Amino acid sequence: MNSATNREIIKLPEPVFNGGISVEKALAARRSVRNFTNEPLTLSELSQLLWAAQGLSNSSGLRTAPSAGALYPLEIYLMAANVKDLPAGVYKYNCQKHVLVKTGEKAKSAELFDAGLRQGSIKSAPMVIIICAVYERVTTKYGERGIRYVDMEAGHAAQNVYLQAESLRLHTVAIGAFHDAKVKKILDLGETEFSLYLMPVGK
Ligand SMILES: Cc1cc2nc3c(=O)[nH]c(=O)nc-3n(C[C@H](O)[C@H](O)[C@H](O)COP(=O)(O)O)c2cc1C
Repeated sequence: MNSATNREIIKLPEPVFNGGISVEKALAARRSVRNFTNEPLTLSELSQLLWAAQGLSNSSGLRTAPSAGALYPLEIYLMAANVKDLPAGVYKYNCQKHVLVKTGEKAKSAELFDAGLRQGSIKSAPMVIIICAVYERVTTKYGERGIRYVDMEAGHAAQNVYLQAESLRLHTVAIGAFHDAKVKKILDLGETEFSLYLMPVGK
């Protein structure tokens, strides 16, 4: 198990490919769940979920979710409140290196709960995956139509998280109702980066 002694970059455990549940079973069992226990998640679980969302799945850099023109506009953030061997804080997933980069010192559960229209799932979750996007990576090539491509892609990534969570016997919910500007501030997003989904995950 990797430890998070380096506060800036956290190397994640390698993803594994031998989950014990079929795609059909995961699809049939998948549900949005909004209440979580106090049990912490592990770095392995977190690693697997981030890889499912946006990890590399081939040596040329293609990823687990399809992407129009393979332009990859999505950026995945993590608000970790209760993950074993990981200090609470805000992190960004670097999929090329499969590492987390710390971007904020505090977990910010209360702030995210407020930004998420006080939905209880955000407050009770040991961690929240936040799917963000840089639209201009796609609109530069596809014009206005690129906006819908990016939104579609976020759906692919979110479904990957749902199915991976199912396989790990974890639960999640895709949250689209939140205050954009507040989430942008909490994550300290750049001018061109926008949040699309909050996904609390837990047991
Ligand atoms: C675009 C989108 C936005 C959603 N936003 C929220 C939300 O803000 N809060 C929430 O609790 N669930 C949200 N959901 C989850 C839906 O409520 C849920 O998928 C629906 O009730 C069907 O239940 P199931 O996912 O268990 O099949 C959202 C789902 C989608 C696709």
